[in-house]
Amino acid sequence: MKIMILNGPNLNRLGKREPEIYGHETLQDVEHKLLQLANKHEVTIDFRQSNHEGELVDWLHEAADNAYEGVVINPAAYTHTSVALHDAIAGIDVPVIEVHISNVHKREAFRHHSYLAPACIGQIVGLGTYGYQLALQTFIQKGESSR
Ligand code: DQA
Repeated sequence: MKIMILNGPNLNRLGKREPEIYGHETLQDVEHKLLQLANKHEVTIDFRQSNHEGELVDWLHEAADNAYEGVVINPAAYTHTSVALHDAIAGIDVPVIEVHISNVHKREAFRHHSYLAPACIGQIVGLGTYGYQLALQTFIQKGESSR
């Protein structure tokens, strides 16, 4: 099973960026934990980050064209702005789970709306970086129960 894990803008600065909101773990730490989980289940993960909306769109298309079984995406600020990412997710038949490290609903009003959520199978919000593991676990379980 192949799962793509995508991270949007500014998440390359995780650990340094507003640690009181996002914590001290780096994106590499997140990837490392996901690799440990993936390896236990013989799952391949493809972990990427971009500060560019179009690159994230291209990667979603790639997930569909290369038969990935699922995508986990933290779209970061594009969550609240991007019709293009909504359309990319709606236009592929790969299931997508949206993850947010912080509880966006406890924060500024502009973070309460997600353009992507209606196109995703689910959303995990406010559980810290553990949310990525829960999302990956969901795909692992789906894969194992469909065997
Ligand atoms: C975020 C929440 C977004 O509102 C914000 O723009 C981010 C990170 C999160 O993981 O909590 O960059 O997606």
